Amino acid sequence: MTVSNATPPANTDTDTIAPRRVEVVSTHSDLPIASRVRLTSIPRTPLKPGQVRIGMLAMAINPADLLQLEGSYGTQPALPFVPGHEGVAVVLECAPDVSDLVWGDRVLPMGPAGCWADERVMSRRQLVSIPAGADVQQCAMLTANPATASVLLSHMRALQPGDWVLQNAANSAVGQCVRQIAQQRGLRVINVVRRSAATTPPSGNGMVWVVDAGDDAQSLRDKVSAATGGTPVQLALDAVGGSASQGLAQALSDGGLLVVYGLLSGQPCTVPAHDLVFRGLQVRGFWLASWFADTGNRQKTRSLYPDLVTMVQAGTLRMAVEAVYPLEQVHDALAHAARPMRSGKILLAGAWAGREVARPLSAA
Ligand SMILES: NC(=O)c1ccc[n+]([C@@H]2O[C@H](COP(=O)([O-])OP(=O)(O)OC[C@H]3O[C@@H](n4cnc5c(N)ncnc54)[C@H](OP(=O)(O)O)[C@@H]3O)[C@@H](O)[C@H]2O)c1
Repeated sequence: MTVSNATPPANTDTDTIAPRRVEVVSTHSDLPIASRVRLTSIPRTPLKPGQVRIGMLAMAINPADLLQLEGSYGTQPALPFVPGHEGVAVVLECAPDVSDLVWGDRVLPMGPAGCWADERVMSRRQLVSIPAGADVQQCAMLTANPATASVLLSHMRALQPGDWVLQNAANSAVGQCVRQIAQQRGLRVINVVRRSAATTPPSGNGMVWVVDAGDDAQSLRDKVSAATGGTPVQLALDAVGGSASQGLAQALSDGGLLVVYGLLSGQPCTVPAHDLVFRGLQVRGFWLASWFADTGNRQKTRSLYPDLVTMVQAGTLRMAVEAVYPLEQVHDALAHAARPMRSGKILLAGAWAGREVARPLSAA
């Protein structure tokens, strides 16, 4: 199934769409991940002041969503809840007091989970407008991973063109974004992956690939040192945790900063006390949700999404997609997303994908 930016047919009958949503009914580890959700229909209720009804076009399945289905995420809504932290949508209907959006506008829903649905009702202030022509699939993946990559490169350590950054899980969506944003800033990146098939594109233009299983810190340190010619590495971005944290930590220069932003291994981070005490290494965690919630970052967030959308439109920011499933195939989509060795994201397509809006909805 494709999700396109094509103009919808002029005679689309909006009332033929009976909206549905995915609900998480269990986070029990005895159940396969795909069996923890069900698809249910949702009524269209009248809008309250300040609200907007949106039709979901495409939604990403991210590790954060899988963690929430396991009951292990930083926020866990009470069961049953509608999962899905990011997607792109079209405006279907606005409350009378919402005057700056019109039906057909494209928006990114921000805030709590709830994107895996054909339709959502959200407060106007939870929606970020994006240009109508922006690529639907790329915009469906814009909220979390590109923003994380941008903040990690901009606000953890002061970096100058030519500086090296070290990252693991480098073929992930965050890793792809780190590479592309770094390239635009003249930064050089050592990209650690756990399998050689993931080392694409090849090394060059300040990008180096290192294949490392994450269990031999000395070996990674040697590979990094060979790649940089001994030039200091002051920032490492860790999506894995466990023994992989030790590998990155030991490859950092004295005084370097290890930022742990993911827990893909599910294991506690191991960083030798020796490196913390005698080499002055710093370790910190990062969660985009907390970063946004910090009022001290408000000014920095203003241009974040407009800049990312501009990059998508310019073709300088792209994340790979492996497959798109219609919402009714959410069980297959989840099983696919939970598999290792993917070549890109798994997306869901809502009922409005490819149909969009021909005339305003009337609330049932
Ligand atoms: N802290 C935040 O605010 C924040 C925001 C966004 C994302 N994240 C985190 O960023 C990480 C990447 O997310 P994403 O959406 O970019 O991922 P993704 O595109 O779905 O890709 C998953 C990646 O993880 C790798 N991987 C999985 N398990 C691994 C393990 N045990 N050891 C090493 N590599 C492993 C996979 O490698 P293979 O291809 O070899 O299977 C693949 O590169 C996740 O941990 C996510 O939770 C954090």
